[in-house]
Amino acid sequence: MSAKPKVFVTRRLPDNVEARLKRDYDPILNADDHLPGADEVVAGCKGADALLPCPTDKITAEVIERLDDSVKAIATFSVGYEHIDVEAAKKRGIVVTNTPDVLTDATADIAMLLILGAARRAYEGEMMVRNATWGAWEPTGMLGVQVTGNRLGIMGMGRIGQAVARRARGFEMEVHYHNRSKLPAAEEFGATFHETLDGLLAVSDILSIHCPSTAETRKSINAETIAKLPDGAIVVNTARGNVVDDEALIEALKSGKLFAAGIDVYDGEPNIHPGYRDLTNAFLLPHLGSATHATRDGMGFKALDNLDAFFAGKTPPNRVA
Ligand code: DGY
Repeated sequence: MSAKPKVFVTRRLPDNVEARLKRDYDPILNADDHLPGADEVVAGCKGADALLPCPTDKITAEVIERLDDSVKAIATFSVGYEHIDVEAAKKRGIVVTNTPDVLTDATADIAMLLILGAARRAYEGEMMVRNATWGAWEPTGMLGVQVTGNRLGIMGMGRIGQAVARRARGFEMEVHYHNRSKLPAAEEFGATFHETLDGLLAVSDILSIHCPSTAETRKSINAETIAKLPDGAIVVNTARGNVVDDEALIEALKSGKLFAAGIDVYDGEPNIHPGYRDLTNAFLLPHLGSATHATRDGMGFKALDNLDAFFAGKTPPNRVA
């Protein structure tokens, strides 16, 4: 009987996923779910055949250079893989995989929650109820922005952007999108394409960000681009924090240029820009996009499907490098 491949797993994973790992692999698990640093990842990978990291692990070029020669694959428990230096992995002949598709619906659901929560002042309303500062129903109290029938701009019309467009149709929204290229009609879900980001911003009463973090998109929502949104617009981010310039967004929320923001992802999270904490018009969640039992199981199973294929000598279905 040949030995099972050894996998270093950086974080505690859902029970169903760890059960499959134990059945099919020789895993090194993280029972107390502490955040391992670079040295621990490198040491843990000694003699391991694969590494299974999460978005909280910075698998930099330096970490990859220090990995034991035994490591042949990195299967991240995430769709995003900007935390892994894929070029460094390629140089060392290490295969890298991610987990697309399975988190599309859960993330699109959270985007809708943020759109509704920001537009209808859910944070302020909840605080009034909890803090007993709610006086009486008022004809002019706690007025928000109507979501139904409003104009939604989707920045990045990949899987998650499309899933948000589908949901927005249920709210009778007028949907617009900007993407690297125009999609076939079947993938547009009735949305109108804008060749430029400026074109999209001009018609986005609600802007929902769904692009990956790349050199081109980093800080692309900044003072200059926010100025191009209609006055009183709403910005929602479930993609990556560093697509937004925090200072500019906070300033626009303070000045009233923007009505509100709904945010699930932050530059440098969990150490968010402190300016967000004081803003009552920022509806804030702690990176919950994919946080459902079904989705986290799905992500783990997908990471394992990729390792299964790799160790069976096949091309993993979600190979990114
Ligand atoms: C991912 O998989 O990249 C997500 O951000 C996790 O929610």
